[in-house]
Amino acid sequence: MHFFAYKGKNFSAEGVKVEDIVKKTGTPVYIYSKKTLRTHYGAFTKAFDEVDHIVCFSVKANSNISVLRTFAEEGSGFDIVSAGELYRALKAGANPKKIVFSGVGKRSDELEFALKKKILMFNVESPEELTALNSVAKRLKTKANFAIRVNPDVDPKTHPYISTGLKKNKFGIPAEDAVREYVLAKQNLKCLAPVGIDCHIGSQITKIDPFIDALEKIKGLVHKLRSEGLEIKYLDMGGGLGITYDKEAPPHPSKYGEAVLKSTSGLDLTLIFEPGRVMVGNAGILVTKVLYVKKNDDKTFVIVDAGMNDLARPSLYGSYHAIKPVKVSPSAGEEITADVVGPICESGDFIAKDRIMPAVKSGALLAVMSAGAYGFSMSSNYNSRPRVAEVMADGKGYKVIRKRETFEDIIRGEK
Ligand code: LLP
Repeated sequence: MHFFAYKGKNFSAEGVKVEDIVKKTGTPVYIYSKKTLRTHYGAFTKAFDEVDHIVCFSVKANSNISVLRTFAEEGSGFDIVSAGELYRALKAGANPKKIVFSGVGKRSDELEFALKKKILMFNVESPEELTALNSVAKRLKTKANFAIRVNPDVDPKTHPYISTGLKKNKFGIPAEDAVREYVLAKQNLKCLAPVGIDCHIGSQITKIDPFIDALEKIKGLVHKLRSEGLEIKYLDMGGGLGITYDKEAPPHPSKYGEAVLKSTSGLDLTLIFEPGRVMVGNAGILVTKVLYVKKNDDKTFVIVDAGMNDLARPSLYGSYHAIKPVKVSPSAGEEITADVVGPICESGDFIAKDRIMPAVKSGALLAVMSAGAYGFSMSSNYNSRPRVAEVMADGKGYKVIRKRETFEDIIRGEK
């Protein structure tokens, strides 16, 4: 669900006409809806109301500090994968005691920064990382809380680039080695405290089964660890719940919650979740302007001012984003089949292929839907294009929460 809708002929973000925002900010621009962010957080946390749990929004999905602050104000924790994300989360008012640090390649300076900030737990992905974390903790004369990220070898049935819980993926420690690594850490790495167990099997998962299959494996490990005398308090299920971009019908967080609660009942653990996409995906749109409409033989290209540097998902994963006209034009009803493409000098630069869409003319504004997750956060300056502005709509008003970059910004630091 989300709060983007037509009011008469005008596509609006909460109570604000998108056209009015664009008059002030120009295009391309990302627009988020604060009410949608709050509603999504509320729905997710409500699904686990009856048990101890921490929702740690996955910062990589959308790292704008106003977005993070919105979640922090609702009581959210954060899942980070770099020191930069930790810096952002803290700037946004995050409680370090609700921060988990994931990622397969944490540097020692990043471990040090997070240890000094006293985060809740490190999700460790290799035996060597355990040793590295122990050394940093020893140097700082402290103890590091950790969970092992277990690779449960479960197929999440999603795009191969965003599937992470299979043996062939680089993530986590194989389930069959995990207990041994915990026991070795307990014996030899005295500056580590094993407090949890973690897994994350992939992203844009639209079925419940893969989550529960992974959970069943993790549960077996929890029992084994407890029988070895290890005090496991936290079970981190990662993120991954999918959203509707097109015709997908992912489970509502309440259904996901029911299944997880059933599977974990009686375990006496605090559950941790790292949702990203499901919190922000449908809470954001990318608004772009049609520059030219060009016909080559029998193909029509709608050339817009947003490129793969602004929204990489279609080019990278062939992903689908619905496209809506910001103003329903008098010619509404007339349709074309077109490729919606950006200005970048690559044939892979497209937002949509062979899309049946309303006939548009140069100057028309288009809203690219479901762009709130992995949209701006994956954007770049490729082709020396300044990164675009971000706006937060809130009730009847809106705020620019990131200024459009200038040419000065894009050469900053260069000699
Ligand atoms: N936790 C960990 C350890 C992760 O690696 C991820 C996402 C998440 C949580 C959040 O997953 P989510 O709830 O958002 O599915 N750029 C891709 C998605 C990459 C996901 C990477 N990891 C895309 O645009 O589809």
